Parts: sequence; structure tokens; C-alpha cells
Amino acid sequence: SSDVSTNTFRGYDLSSPESNLSQNIASRVGTNLHLQPKHPLNTIKTIIEDYWQSRNGFTIRDSMDPVVPTANNFDSLLIPPDHVSRSMSDTYYLDKETVLRTHTSAHQTTLLNEGHDRFLVTGDVYRRDEIDSSHYPIFHQMEGVRMFTDEDFEALGATTQEEQVKIVEEDLKKGLEGMARELFGDVEMRWVDAYFPFTEPSFELEIYFNDEWLEVLGCGVVHKDIVKAVGRGDQPGWAFGLGLERLAMVLFSIPDIRLFWTQDERFHRQFESGEIITFQPYSKYPPCFKDISFWTNKEEGAVSTFHENDMYEVVRDVAGDLVERVELIDEFTHPKTNRVSNCFRITYRSMDRSLTNEEIDKLQEQVRDDSIAKLGIELR
Ligand code: PHE
Repeated sequence: SSDVSTNTFRGYDLSSPESNLSQNIASRVGTNLHLQPKHPLNTIKTIIEDYWQSRNGFTIRDSMDPVVPTANNFDSLLIPPDHVSRSMSDTYYLDKETVLRTHTSAHQTTLLNEGHDRFLVTGDVYRRDEIDSSHYPIFHQMEGVRMFTDEDFEALGATTQEEQVKIVEEDLKKGLEGMARELFGDVEMRWVDAYFPFTEPSFELEIYFNDEWLEVLGCGVVHKDIVKAVGRGDQPGWAFGLGLERLAMVLFSIPDIRLFWTQDERFHRQFESGEIITFQPYSKYPPCFKDISFWTNKEEGAVSTFHENDMYEVVRDVAGDLVERVELIDEFTHPKTNRVSNCFRITYRSMDRSLTNEEIDKLQEQVRDDSIAKLGIELR
């Protein structure tokens, strides 16, 4: 479906100005790490699914297409037209109206329209972002939605809209606290007020684990305008969403997010299906640091097209999983010309082997060439 010679993906022209998807990312669609037996992401998914299944029967969806209309990813969730998450610097577009989903919430209204009341959706999600040990342009999320019916409320003795929303909120919090205990054991937890355009009220759950507060998930009562739009009148429900890598890294002590993608047996043979174990790092190979300095096309106070995420993408496309981190280490404005200079430090390191100097020099040379060609910058 991804064709390098014509630079297309499923018939979408990736060379078009409406698209910012690279073959590097396109070629990963369909890998479905969350479906690989014994994979830590699959284990977390299974534990969470079993938990909700044992409470009430939830419909399980884990193979929904990550290519979705912007209407599903943004509009139907009441995400405003000027929201940053819609920008080309943050989201992968195939064309103006089609994106790689940035969250599993993209399927909420589709499944509600199909008539489902209780469902769990797991899948790969895509975001253009920085590069370090916990950020990767592809990660995995799990979404849970439960709508309440008149019968539910009758059984619970709730009549007014206010009582009903209170009940939904309590059910949501109880359920998620139980889920967190299932994963983390008897930990301290706290609820923090949050904001999402598609839930009202909204919350985040934090747990105290390994001496720090860790944000586990976002959730809330499904916005009443969404409920209305899917033809459910004013029957409330709840929704939550969580990132599987973040949980797996903490629970299995996995130090770098790239490891989820490795083919190395020294990683995979450590895991058994459904079991949370402590990962034993097999080796840390030496890092290699390279700096790149350039004048961006930014001028102080002027409109610019340079975005750091574009720089990160260039490095990813060249070095793939051999890049561990990219940091902006220096930025200054020339006092006379007003031009802005950036210096990025790139850390190259493989998870699986030692890299040669020759190999790294070649990558760095390619990064320099591609930066000139794609970013409109001038090397210093
Ligand atoms: N989609 C939100 C995110 O990606 C998480 C979320 C899901 C929040 C459902 C509320 C309800 O951050």
C-alpha cells in the first residue's frame, strides 16, 4: 500500500503540499505491535480488557484503520478549527481531509453511531513531536466508552440530569481506580481536574509510583453535544483514553520507547504473554553526539515556516531508530540582521549494537543535506 517509487500511500500522493507524511512513517502503518502475543503492549492491553470484561461486557476493537477523516479525529469531538493539534506541524495529513489518527478518540462517534454502548478501542496513533527516550511519532492508545441507559438509571434510582451525571462520574472514577490497582497494585492515587473539548467535566488520574506522581490517563463525562449528535438524546456516558507505552515503560522498567520496535531477541525473549516482569537491559551501547547549526528562515517578529518538528522529522527519516534524542541546545537572534540561529544536538545510539564512526558520519552528512533541501535553512 506504500509505494516509494511513486511516493504514494494507499493512493494518496505524499508529494502533495496537502500531505506531510513520509514513507518512513507510512511504511509502519499496519505493524500493530499491540496485537503481537507476548509483546509488553499486548500484555497491558489484555490486562485492561480482562478487567473491563469482568465488570460488564465491553465490545473490543483493536484493528480499526488508523487512517481517518479529520471530521472523526477533530470535528466530531468538538476540537475547535484553530486548535494546535490540527496543524501540519503536529499531525500527519494524507490530504486536507484525511489524517493518521492522533488519538483513539477518533473512533468514538463512529462506534456510538453504530449503536455500541460499551466499547474498548486499541490502536496505533501518530503525532509529530520531539525526539527523546519517551517520545516516538507512533504510539498506542486505548479508549474506553460506556454509555448509560434509562434502565441503568432506574436500577440506580437516579432521576434528575444532575443525579445522573454524578452517577456517571462516580462510576467512571471507581472503574478507573480499580483498573489502576489491577495494573499497579495498592498505590496512592489522586484525581486532577483537566480539560478536553470532548468531555465535561474532565479529569486526569495520577498514581504515586517509584517515588513520583505519574499521569496515567485522561477521562470525563462525554460532552452533551456529542451525545446529542449521535442521536442519544441526553443520556450521559463516560470516556477515557490512555497511552500504552507510558504504562508499559513504568511497569516493565523499559528505559527507551524505541525498544518496543526492536526485533532483537534479547528484548522479546524476556516476555511471557500476560505477565508483567522487570526488563533486564542487555547492554547500553556508546552514544555519539553531533551538532548541527543553521540560520532558520525565521526572523524576529516575521512569519516563519520553520518548525522544530520538521527538523525532528528530517532526522527520523534519515536515522530511524538510530537516533535517541534531538535537543535544541542554542538559539539566538543576530543583532543586525534579526535572523534566528539554531543549534541542535543529535544523539545517535543503537539499542541493539555498536555504531561505527563511518556510519554516523554518513547519517549526519545526510541530515545536513536533507535539512537544506527540506527546511529552507542555511547551514552555518
Ligand atoms: N484523547 C485524549 C488524549 O489523547 C484522551 C481522552 C480520551 C480524554 C477520552 C478524555 C476522554 O489525550
